[in-house]
Amino acid sequence: MLEVSGLCFHYQPHVPVLNDLTFSVSDGEIVGLSGKNGVGKTTTLKLILGLLPPEKGSVRLGNCSLYLHPMQYRKQINYVSDSHDIYNNLTGKEYLNFIADMYEVPSETRGKIYTPLIKSFQVEKYLSSPVKKLSHGTKQKIAIMASLVNDPLLWVLDEPMTGLDVEAVQVLKELIKSRAACGKSVLFSSHILEICENLCDKIIIMQAGTIKKTIRLCDNPSCISLEDIYLEVVNDVPMDKGFSIKQNNM
Ligand SMILES: Nc1ncnc2c1ncn2[C@@H]1O[C@H](COP(=O)(O)OP(=O)(O)OP(=O)(O)O)[C@@H](O)[C@H]1O
Ligand SMILES: [Mg+2]
Repeated sequence: MLEVSGLCFHYQPHVPVLNDLTFSVSDGEIVGLSGKNGVGKTTTLKLILGLLPPEKGSVRLGNCSLYLHPMQYRKQINYVSDSHDIYNNLTGKEYLNFIADMYEVPSETRGKIYTPLIKSFQVEKYLSSPVKKLSHGTKQKIAIMASLVNDPLLWVLDEPMTGLDVEAVQVLKELIKSRAACGKSVLFSSHILEICENLCDKIIIMQAGTIKKTIRLCDNPSCISLEDIYLEVVNDVPMDKGFSIKQNNM
């Protein structure tokens, strides 16, 4: 289980981005992180990855603290970033092997993990090209594949559906579901509420650097759409007023 407790963070002095952020992701749970642009979703994911240092707070995965046992912690997690600029000079195949080397995954094991993914995402023909020559969606597919090479306990994805074609979105949804089915956790940020609604066990809505609301999908009566709940939460508008605003704008 991931436990994030009391995280505080700022990029610039006196401009807090995260403010006492606390939430958890259980084993086998799929959690969506949503909220307005600039609210701190990517920053939160980077802190969980250990890519940014917090001002205060703790992050634990099972028995491992990110700050006390960083190597052990990092081996159990992997990440799909919202940008892929870091490996542009490698070919797709070199990048996949580079990530596998970083996680010390033996060649036989990486083959077993990558081969079905290459087939599902239909990227075989692109793997010899430098990543910089690939389309955004193809880069995204390669980043997704690489992020599974260590079979992470926690799979973190930042707006992973962006730029993927319809078939690839289907593949990704199935991957997310199949990981949860075998007890692994998934945390992803998204603005696409339909995807969150179909995939997630719970959705966390951020506002002002903290958690404004956690929605457990199993508790959500199907007569109220997630979009209406979201708009009520982020705009502080009562539900019936939210409906009338939408109608007036049509
Ligand atoms: N490197 C940086 N230096 C300074 N400020 C930053 C930096 N990165 C992000 N910020 C600021 O931190 C805040 C949170 O940004 P973040 O990227 O985490 O938001 P987000 O919720 O992921 O937004 P989006 O939905 O657009 O992806 C924003 O105000 C942003 O301008
Ligand atoms: Mg973001």
